[in-house]
Amino acid sequence: MDINSLSHKELTEVITSGAYDRELAAEADRVRRKYYGTDVYLRGLIEICNVCKNNCLYCGIRRDNAGLDRYRLTPENILACCEQGYGLGLRTFVLQGGEDPYYTDEMICGIVSEIKSHWPDCAVTLSLGEKERESYAAYRDAGADRYLLRHETANDEHYARLHPAEMSPIHRKNCLFTLKELGYQVGSGFMVGSPWQTAENLAEDLEFLRELKPDMIGIGPFVPHKDTPFRDFAGGTLELTLRMVSILRLMFPTALIPSTTALGTIHPQGREMGLKAGANVVMPNLSPVGVRKLYELYDNKICTGEEAAECLVCLRRRIKSAGYEAVVSRGDVYGYSSSSGNF
Ligand code: 5AD
Ligand code: FES
Repeated sequence: MDINSLSHKELTEVITSGAYDRELAAEADRVRRKYYGTDVYLRGLIEICNVCKNNCLYCGIRRDNAGLDRYRLTPENILACCEQGYGLGLRTFVLQGGEDPYYTDEMICGIVSEIKSHWPDCAVTLSLGEKERESYAAYRDAGADRYLLRHETANDEHYARLHPAEMSPIHRKNCLFTLKELGYQVGSGFMVGSPWQTAENLAEDLEFLRELKPDMIGIGPFVPHKDTPFRDFAGGTLELTLRMVSILRLMFPTALIPSTTALGTIHPQGREMGLKAGANVVMPNLSPVGVRKLYELYDNKICTGEEAAECLVCLRRRIKSAGYEAVVSRGDVYGYSSSSGNF
């Protein structure tokens, strides 16, 4: 089946039906091996704060969740996480957090440039939400290589049902194009099975991504969080999420696609299955163990308890068991040339 020549209607049919799943996964794995062999890239995830000015209806760290203790890592805390991660063989650090004005552009630039000067062989990825062009430009000048910002859903009406009125889907999409213009490797993505999502919506997500041409695509199942307005909605399924991973691999043969923590949360072998369905990135959690429980975007998130100190060991073992190889490198997108970057 050639995904890229399907009509919108046929694509929607593939998304809805489970009939092609085996074929899709086998073909996705073949395509991934063609470009990336068995390589799986590791990204050390540092959850820098759970303070957020936004109020997305699905998210556990939304502003209105009053029952949550809020934390902010200091620049020193963040650098200590990188130091530890570097020692463990990680060469990409992802700084992710809520949209928190406490971290000024100056602070973020300071943290990024410190990381880059201590570990020039590492890539820095930011995932700090919607900002002005000037801010993104400053982070880039400070050395940031990549930026992750999921579009969440490409359909404006659907977006409006998942977010408060003050959030704009157009602004969010514009941020992504701005980031590309500034020379970032850009990641976007969406949740699978979010409330009211239709197969049509998912097809629109794929079409939006075709337009954006991202380097990275992160998707995971929607998982309800007990302290959000969406607590009683059903979560996204393993089957549909894996199907979407395979479709993404076939549409974007060279994209970096993580097998996400959310996938590992809804099934004990979810991340291994994600890799076999076409994903080629995993993101071990490097956040201090003491704050991990506070960065719960959804219920039952894995890697927040005692076992969490061992994420990297655990993930390496899982990657191997799925038939792939964790590699120590920056893991840039296929065809990326360092001489065209700013380092
Ligand atoms: N279930 C699954 N994913 C979620 N995210 C936020 N809340 C949830 C949830 N309840 C995802 C969003 C966001 C990413 C960091 O986490 O897609 O972009
Ligand atoms: Fe965190 Fe397995 S990846 S404990």
